[in-house]
Amino acid sequence: MLTPFPSQFVVSDAPPHTLAANWMIVGVWADEPPPAGVYADGAAELRESGDLTGKHLELVLVYNPAGLKAKRLLFVGLGKRSEATRATLHDAASAAARHATTKKVGTVAFVLPGAEWTLAAGVGLAQGCQGPGVRKTAPTRFAPNHFVLVGGDEAALPRVRAEARALWLARELVNSPPCDLYPETFAVAAADAGRAAGFAVEVWDESRLAAERMGSLLAVAKGSQRPARLAILRYSGNPGGPVLGLVGKGVTFDSGGLSLKPTDGMVDMKCDMAGAAAVLAGVQAAAELKLPVNLLGVLALVENMPGGNAMKLGDVLTARNGKTIEVLNTDAEGRLILADALCYAAEQTDHLVDFATLTGACMVALGTETSGLMTNADPWADAVLAAVGRAGERAWKLPMDASYDGLIKSKVADMRNTGGGRWGGAIAGGKFLQQFVGGAKWVHLDIAGPAWAEGETAALDAGGTGTMVRSIVEMALGFAAGGAA
Ligand code: BES
Ligand code: MN
Ligand code: ZN
Repeated sequence: MLTPFPSQFVVSDAPPHTLAANWMIVGVWADEPPPAGVYADGAAELRESGDLTGKHLELVLVYNPAGLKAKRLLFVGLGKRSEATRATLHDAASAAARHATTKKVGTVAFVLPGAEWTLAAGVGLAQGCQGPGVRKTAPTRFAPNHFVLVGGDEAALPRVRAEARALWLARELVNSPPCDLYPETFAVAAADAGRAAGFAVEVWDESRLAAERMGSLLAVAKGSQRPARLAILRYSGNPGGPVLGLVGKGVTFDSGGLSLKPTDGMVDMKCDMAGAAAVLAGVQAAAELKLPVNLLGVLALVENMPGGNAMKLGDVLTARNGKTIEVLNTDAEGRLILADALCYAAEQTDHLVDFATLTGACMVALGTETSGLMTNADPWADAVLAAVGRAGERAWKLPMDASYDGLIKSKVADMRNTGGGRWGGAIAGGKFLQQFVGGAKWVHLDIAGPAWAEGETAALDAGGTGTMVRSIVEMALGFAAGGAA
């Protein structure tokens, strides 16, 4: 059901013109002349005529280039070197790969603008060769057999491979139709990944969840024919050391429940498990890289459906920590499943990050490319924000001061699951989740915007984006280096 990442990465120091690739991609800076030694005079001529400026994401194709063994030469604009980041190189490589993967080829070579960009460009290439057409009988995107990173850093290759595979896994999971990917099959995918990459996976079924007092998570699953699961991932790379807890929202389909979404709001709701997908993929990458860190991943897996047994408005749920929750909107289900998952994680670790496609309100606030960050511990949030930045991804902190506490006040129970009014919806979600993290230092990342691309752009296909996979690797690296603020 899930296909693995099909491409191999190698580095080469051979002169580019000697490489017999189907595509030779060459990065060009906007503030420097095109690299000499690939298509020397031709490139200079293109630059002079204004056809090749190096503007970020610009693509210029030369077919049957003179003097090159490669059949096609593709220049890709990298933007200014003075403004280059992991994100700009990632996107440029992805845009070029999207251009080169519309038909099946054996080898795509990429001439790096410097060995220090091996990770950014390598993972970017992987980003560009995966599309949303997971069930097309005639595929529309074709990852090559080989990527040759010309002038690349051999030492960066294991990380390129691990992050490419992880990104691929997360996106395959998000793109999978909800008839195939539901809590039980997601849990199987987690177990498979654990066996292959070397981390332990424990799966709790409904009876175990009940025995573990996870009444809030179980209530969400009641309307569905598909039983809930909790998948617990444990990677131990630093025995005896501190544990980084990663919690993911895994609503494999969010119909809204009895607070049913209209069609327009429901149509993409197979993406509502992107947080759990990111956590699984991130733990897989850390395990493949044998990072010296301990990770606890908790995937809260449910399907949110209406039905004769569904939870109702006015129901009061009791979460694992004993707190009571008045349900006023069954479409605010993510926080209900995360409540129990966070309780469990907080019992075992002092440092938590959760990843959740939690609110449309966060997209209204920050748009589709930036995640909302909420926290109870600013230094820990700063460490997480720094990791997200190093990964070339984006998050922005929202306020969580006491003036927002009223958003979750209930007349009946300890709290209610919606903010009630129209305002501050993302923060209401954060305030709710905070009730379940005990004394742990905790960061909530609302990834509702970045998790899913409604349409394609130059650097990204439509569908699952794999958001936060690269960031989780950076968080794990930072935690391993003692960055547990
Ligand atoms: N899964 C949705 C949030 C979402 C919306 C994710 C759009 C991705 C794209 C979540 O479960 C939800 O329905 N949230 C409600 C909360 C409200 C009922 C308090 C929302 O945002 O409307
Ligand atoms: Mn919902
Ligand atoms: Zn949801």
